[in-house]
Amino acid sequence: MSLAGKHIVLGITGSIAAYKSATLTRLLIKKGAEVQIVITPAGKEFITPITLSALTGKPVISEFFAAGDGTWHSHVDLGLWADLMIVAPATASTIGKMAHGIADNMLITTYLSMKAPVFVAPAMDLDMYRHISTQRNIEILRKDGVQLIDPAEGELASHLEGKGRMEEPENIVAVLEQFFATPNDLTHQNILITAGPTYERIDPVRFIGNFSSGKMGFALAVECASRGAEVLLITGPTALSASHPNIRRVDVESAREMFDIAVKAFPGMDAAILSAAVADYRPQQTVAEKIKRNEQEQITLTLTPNPDIAATLGKMKKPGQKIIGFALETNDEESHAIKKLEKKNFDYIVLNSLQDKGAGFGHDTNKVTMLSRSGMKLSFELKTKKEVAKDIVDIAFGSSSNRFT
Ligand code: CTP
Repeated sequence: MSLAGKHIVLGITGSIAAYKSATLTRLLIKKGAEVQIVITPAGKEFITPITLSALTGKPVISEFFAAGDGTWHSHVDLGLWADLMIVAPATASTIGKMAHGIADNMLITTYLSMKAPVFVAPAMDLDMYRHISTQRNIEILRKDGVQLIDPAEGELASHLEGKGRMEEPENIVAVLEQFFATPNDLTHQNILITAGPTYERIDPVRFIGNFSSGKMGFALAVECASRGAEVLLITGPTALSASHPNIRRVDVESAREMFDIAVKAFPGMDAAILSAAVADYRPQQTVAEKIKRNEQEQITLTLTPNPDIAATLGKMKKPGQKIIGFALETNDEESHAIKKLEKKNFDYIVLNSLQDKGAGFGHDTNKVTMLSRSGMKLSFELKTKKEVAKDIVDIAFGSSSNRFT
């Protein structure tokens, strides 16, 4: 029983999909979880507390006070009791209240008192789901570290087809099982991660950059955070959001900004994972006004080297700290990667070659080879960046069956 002994608070809100919550409850209990249901007043219009309490063997909580004897239902106690909270189905209204802390019902007060990770499975009509206001609120929740279980495509209660159907209970349970199956082996580790590109300003409207999307670095941040680490994610410009409460994100633009923050933070870290595609050079001067087209056929930019963050951290490294670097190569990949591993004093280097289809910048997949200081080499298949992040962390932090021996 994969959820044996887990305390789960299941929040139910006023959506047609509330009927699926009965199945969800039953499946959670079958997997060994203890379930406490908190339902909104609108939720009770769609499914009766009697059905739900029969399944959980506990009273369903809805009001702040029990009607009969005036006993207070403590959302604070629930926040401490829970190993996980899931709101399924979550309406646009509840998502909005969660995003803005509008604590006008028991479910929202419970959410605001929650010490455990929170998952949300939205359910609504496709236009409501697509609406800029809903999307904005979902984004706020993601940034707050709430984990979204995206709605599926399909026929909706309005008989329209589209995205908005609550994910099926079986799939929700699979997500929760996966969550609990993730090892907690990085608790008490402080990990610095650099991600994304850097932009080096030419003038107020132009910059030198690169095609890095930041996806690999963000996947690593989520993997480390999910395994209990406190992550400092220093990222160059990217549209990505990092959704985990253990991730502290600092946005930077240039290599020098990234350098300053990384160098200051590194002494307090157990490890650094340097996945950013840092620009090696920047324009020697940033022109204060926009460079105008003029009669000259050509203009010349003089570039000056940026500081090497990786090499600097490599020099600062103390016993007990480890550094995992990256190398993106186009030719003589392995020998270049080994040289970098040694020159920058890395413990491991993750090599991806632009020769490999589906690997490198922008893709959701990557194909890497990991090399260690002790001369070991492990090559992986093409995988999603999430899976690659798991492999890298398994190897570098030594909790893997395929770790170097
Ligand atoms: N790196 C860094 N700071 C830089 C340049 C690179 O921290 N100014 C890090 C990258 O994040 C990566 C590793 O160093 O972990 C190797 O980066 P890469 O660009 O492959 O190597 P470079 O040293 O820039 O060498 P080259 O561009 O000549 O291949």
